[in-house]
Amino acid sequence: MSSIKASKLSSATFDFEQYVLDCKTQIEHSLDLWMKPHEPEILWESMRYSVLSGGKRLRAILCMAAAEACSKDRETARKAVMPCAAAIEIVHAMSLIHDDLPCMDNDDLRRGKPTNHKVFGEALALLAGDALLMLALEILLDRSDASVTPKNVMAVASELTRAAGALGMVGGQVLDLSYTGQGIERTNAFKALDNIAIDEAILGTIHKKKTGAMIRFSAWSGAKLASANEKQLSTISEFGDILGLAFQIADDLLDVTGDVTTLGKTPGKDEASQKATWVRVFGVEKSQSRLEALEKKGLELISAADFNADAVPALAAILNYAIHRKN
Ligand code: IPE
Ligand code: IPE
Ligand code: MG
Ligand code: MG
Ligand code: MG
Repeated sequence: MSSIKASKLSSATFDFEQYVLDCKTQIEHSLDLWMKPHEPEILWESMRYSVLSGGKRLRAILCMAAAEACSKDRETARKAVMPCAAAIEIVHAMSLIHDDLPCMDNDDLRRGKPTNHKVFGEALALLAGDALLMLALEILLDRSDASVTPKNVMAVASELTRAAGALGMVGGQVLDLSYTGQGIERTNAFKALDNIAIDEAILGTIHKKKTGAMIRFSAWSGAKLASANEKQLSTISEFGDILGLAFQIADDLLDVTGDVTTLGKTPGKDEASQKATWVRVFGVEKSQSRLEALEKKGLELISAADFNADAVPALAAILNYAIHRKN
């Protein structure tokens, strides 16, 4: 990487902590506003419990940063993407509620609090997830900013269905479960995969779909809503792919290296349930060096991209944070 390109990645005036704080304030405000409780009260309580329970908001922030990278004006870009950023966090919360269910990862702790089904029971956790999935689309379609063309709103809604559905996140969760607990007594339909060795190609596909698809969508949709050109859209999508894979490898590592208080979820669960994780297949050191390589690749990509230079440090900091985070 040349020093000229590298200098695009940081700026003396850019303060990532402040940037995250600003983005988070806007996203929390929109989520609360667009999730005002209705009847049945208990359903909305369950939905709000999981959406408004903190979380890093990394996907929403990525969506905002991608929009800024393809726009001349930060405020216009943020207004344009806010419904989409909210929809992304809502779909993400839904995926976490279902991921934690006893029939999936069976987790009791999420964001430092009891998981949704522990508080509301399994039926409500399931139904809150269903409702959130629909609410996300409703917000995306009904709350879209006047500055965004209907054609772009439809393109983003259409892509969200693919990223979250059978071709993306849901499909990835099925693959994740298919390779979980190989050889352990299981009652589900995944026994057939017991004798298949998990290699990099299988792991890469699981990670790309279950986590990468929504992260790629977060980056792409931000750019699309800011009316990015084709070249910018393909670069930001590639960046989203790199970030998505890195994010899940870092998550796999945190399950081994993290502590419960900082993580806000129970560490050691992947090992206990014999999950197909990067660490299980390649070990801690190789996982860490893979992360370093992904970080380098991601930074090279955005330093050479035709983006608004003022917005590139935010993208670089998001990648760095996704990789080096402690929760
Ligand atoms: C957790 O996502 C699920 C994974 C894809 C690993 P996050 O680590 O982004 O969870 P929150 O939203 O910050 O709680
Ligand atoms: C979850 O992956 C991916 C989705 C929720 C789609 P994990 O199962 O590794 O996430 P955590 O570790 O429970 O947050
Ligand atoms: Mg899981
Ligand atoms: Mg899980
Ligand atoms: Mg995990």
